[in-house]
Amino acid sequence: MRIEPIQKTDTTVFGAIVTGVDLNHLSDEEWEVIEAAWYEHAVLVFTGQHIEEAAHVALGERIGELEQLVADRKSVPISNRKVDGSAVDAESDHFKILKGNEGWHTDSTYMPLSARASILAAQVVPEEGGQTEWADMRAAYDALDNPTREQIAALAAYHSLFYSQSKVGHNPAKGASYGLNDQDVPLRPLVKLHPVTQRPALFIGRHAYGIPGLSESESEALLERLMVFACQPPRVFGHTWTPGDVVMWDNRCVLHRARPYNYDKPRIMRHVRVAGDPRTEAGIRV
Ligand SMILES: [Fe+2]
Repeated sequence: MRIEPIQKTDTTVFGAIVTGVDLNHLSDEEWEVIEAAWYEHAVLVFTGQHIEEAAHVALGERIGELEQLVADRKSVPISNRKVDGSAVDAESDHFKILKGNEGWHTDSTYMPLSARASILAAQVVPEEGGQTEWADMRAAYDALDNPTREQIAALAAYHSLFYSQSKVGHNPAKGASYGLNDQDVPLRPLVKLHPVTQRPALFIGRHAYGIPGLSESESEALLERLMVFACQPPRVFGHTWTPGDVVMWDNRCVLHRARPYNYDKPRIMRHVRVAGDPRTEAGIRV
């Protein structure tokens, strides 16, 4: 197995391309190597895998219990096509959430448990656009000046999909799907200590808003400033998908976003999401 860093500078070791391994037939010994590399690089890219659904699910289950995003399924399509192959309606909640995910975010931060990991497998991709980008929130935290670190040390933000979607002009009705239910909005510290590596990381993204103790505009300005600062080189890289590629990333220390593309073209990904640990991804009880 070969692990080639993607972004390696004096301040950042972020993302790696892993070759010489078949994810459809992964041994425990190979997983140990992958897991160690994952904690170091936070995002691992495997090209040409064409991973089967069962192997994809099993890979997620090596990390932890999966999020049940759809009843009776351990994987879900992230797709702009319906089951019958027709395009998703541009006025639907589904379409608008796909568009919303072109903003930097961490999966499931608006849910009671934010996600531990996400694993995406490309099946059908447009010829242009539709890349995914990741940003290293460990390196972003490390690069903050001391006054900012002190300012945010004790701060937390609420995370809501209603908030983030309203920012892109989408005001969905409350319902049971996509996390759009009436549950309490979780409050999460702006600095997250990674439960395994103990490295601090900025924990922000498009769902974050309403920092207690700040006015609405102060909160918005601070979160925007942190996001702009965090999501820039050398802390960012993108992947242009080819069918068969698999990427697994650590939601506890990485932001990601989809890049725009022509929605007339199909883009179909299979997604497995690993649930957060209630001890470390449950947010603050108030
Ligand atoms: Fe996402």
